[in-house]
Amino acid sequence: MTTSSRRYHITTFGCQMNKADSERMAGILEDMGFEWSEDPNDANVILYNTCTIRDNAEQKVYSYLGRQAKRKHQQPDLTLVVAGCVAQQEGESLLRRVPELDLVMGPQHANRLQDLLQQVFDGNQVVATEPVHIIEDITKPRRDSKVTAWVNVIYGCNERCTYCVVPNVRGVEQSRTPEAIRAEMEEIGRQGYPEVTLLGQNIDAYGRDLPGITPEGRRQNTLTDLLYYVHDVAGIERIRFATSHPRYFTERLIRACAELPKVCEHFHIPFQSGDNKLLKRMSRGYTHEKYRRIIHTIREYMPDAAISADAIVGFPGETEAQFENTLKLVEYIGFDLINTAAYSPRPGTPAALWDEQLSDEVKSDRLQRLNHLVATRAAERSQRYLGRVEEVLVEEQNTKNQAQLMGRTRGNRLTFFEGDISELKGKLVKVKITDCRAFSLTGELVGAPQVLSV
Ligand code: SAH
Ligand code: SF4
Ligand code: F3S
Repeated sequence: MTTSSRRYHITTFGCQMNKADSERMAGILEDMGFEWSEDPNDANVILYNTCTIRDNAEQKVYSYLGRQAKRKHQQPDLTLVVAGCVAQQEGESLLRRVPELDLVMGPQHANRLQDLLQQVFDGNQVVATEPVHIIEDITKPRRDSKVTAWVNVIYGCNERCTYCVVPNVRGVEQSRTPEAIRAEMEEIGRQGYPEVTLLGQNIDAYGRDLPGITPEGRRQNTLTDLLYYVHDVAGIERIRFATSHPRYFTERLIRACAELPKVCEHFHIPFQSGDNKLLKRMSRGYTHEKYRRIIHTIREYMPDAAISADAIVGFPGETEAQFENTLKLVEYIGFDLINTAAYSPRPGTPAALWDEQLSDEVKSDRLQRLNHLVATRAAERSQRYLGRVEEVLVEEQNTKNQAQLMGRTRGNRLTFFEGDISELKGKLVKVKITDCRAFSLTGELVGAPQVLSV
């Protein structure tokens, strides 16, 4: 391969975890001397970082792959890589389905990309899906945003929600050490990123696999301890974390969020269903009453906190009355945002094998009704911002209106206002809110941008 032919392209599907993995893999490729190519057709290493959370996510991957596999017949030096969750789920059978593939690698192998590619360049077709201890990465990620950075704190998931493939494809929980996390955040702070989002599929499980008990007999190295430990990292103005699990969410964590000024008043706590019998069959380990109590406690400490969640409709056996319990919970809480989905049976998960699978018609009818209620309640909640001055972190120009900028409030609400991106990108500004929609706000700049303590 000549130097001029060393161009790579990555397409990322799925969740923030995959986005973070892609940024690290891009960093590795750039270290190896590859250059980013926006157009996959100009690249000679193409990597698809895949998602299998629902069937439609998986099918999308196959249609992308099909196109590039054809191209490989004209351009044999093209290297085709499938990484991420479909790679882990399908393993070698992906090679039977798409023989043109050079490398199939599960999410736990992301940091080994250089090694694995070397094996490919040596003439091998490689499958790396065996469970491994994830090595601490020393390569610098190539971060997509210049404003907000992801930081993994725990990999994997030890829960066994009966609908979910994640534990099968992401492996067992593995926490990074507080020192490694802080070191990464210090680097991010030095590079001028004002915001960090700490990531884990079940971030409340952080530290369960690390040693340490306090003199009072409390487990050390919890997520709460971590927030206190990293809070003073210079340059970082905002800290977020996701995803929270209601089973493990503690009042101590809520208190820390209220106490620590950099931690944003935004909580992403999926409830999945508002029906106790269904929650039990999902193996979620909490009741809707417990969920309501958590939100009450958050609102006691931080009355204005933004609450978002995930919910599934049409789980096997879900009755109309059980679905209505989900609607009741949504009506009652008043979420700022919910990612809703129709249940999709996944290979290797218990619920996929159960009788009582619901028809697509029932699922899509319920999804529509839920989405309608979510939007109505979110629009109501949004009104509280009208006339207020909000702190907004400026991210980008509004792609739909070049005169406007886009940023997020501490509560993670998209906010649009007029301004100059070259002057304001990455700055915290004050915006007076003049118009509120269900999931976004419009406003006007007030005062000068704040000077960050970088
Ligand atoms: N770890 C997080 C979420 C992981 S997956 C949690 O515990 O909540 C992201 C979301 O996808 C889930 O919250 C769930 O709402 C949805 N999801 C997962 N499996 C699904 C399936 N089989 N069908 C439909 N939605 C699913
Ligand atoms: Fe999936 Fe449940 Fe783990 Fe979330 S907590 S990733 S829904 S198994
Ligand atoms: Fe998808 Fe894997 Fe994330 S299945 S949602 S990319 S953990």
